[in-house]
Amino acid sequence: MIKNPEEIEAMRQAGKLLGKMLAELRDFVEPGKSTLDIEYRAQELCKENGVKPAFKGYHGYPWYCCISTNNDVVHGFPNEKPLKKGDLVTIDFGIMAGKLHTDSAVSVIVGGEEAGSPTARRLNEVTRKAMYKGIREIKPGAKTGDIGNAIQKEVERAGFSIIKELTGHGIGYNLHEDPQILNYGKKGSGTALKPGMIICIEPIVSAGERFIETAEDGWTIAVRDGSLGCQWEHMVLVTPNGHEILTQA
Ligand code: MF3
Ligand code: CO
Repeated sequence: MIKNPEEIEAMRQAGKLLGKMLAELRDFVEPGKSTLDIEYRAQELCKENGVKPAFKGYHGYPWYCCISTNNDVVHGFPNEKPLKKGDLVTIDFGIMAGKLHTDSAVSVIVGGEEAGSPTARRLNEVTRKAMYKGIREIKPGAKTGDIGNAIQKEVERAGFSIIKELTGHGIGYNLHEDPQILNYGKKGSGTALKPGMIICIEPIVSAGERFIETAEDGWTIAVRDGSLGCQWEHMVLVTPNGHEILTQA
């Protein structure tokens, strides 16, 4: 669970590159392009930078990215359908640092924030803010429940729902490691954070009810009542004094 200085430095370098790649993929999104176009751009970026993807092959996952639109919320398969102005798109992506993983996600409204419905804009903003509220709790001695509690408060205050089945996680030689980080919970509950832990904070939020369903592809998860879904994710190091976000461009 605790990374040594060399492991931390490798994940810091790759995390920064992932942040840059995600910023580029976000800017690449526009009406008329498909989520498969975004996937191919991610494949090119990996080639250009000489890095391997972290998700492809994970429990048989077939793509570099998970790209989920509108009521699809996570693990969306890239597809050929053209994106429309106002669509809410989540791009979740990771690259390898040798044998170590990285993982981060951003959401964007196609055609710019102004193109989104009031709900889409608010959901995107609240989910992003909830992620940062969770991250702000991270320091040695804090508990995973402090993070979940901060995220839950922000989301429920806005009238949105936490999708409880989907959680944050530790990361390293495996994409998903301990501790699991629930996006809800009580302050003071859960696992204590220690310097050298690297964790992924990823609120996964529905604008309607919290229930989900999995598509026939076995992966794409949608909000069951058809409401919009949204995810943001950063990979964060617990430092002796607090934390450092590793997946920032
Ligand atoms: N960020 C996603 C997660 O933590 C990555 C999923 S990779 C997949 O669950 F292969 F499972 F899709
Ligand atoms: Co993750």
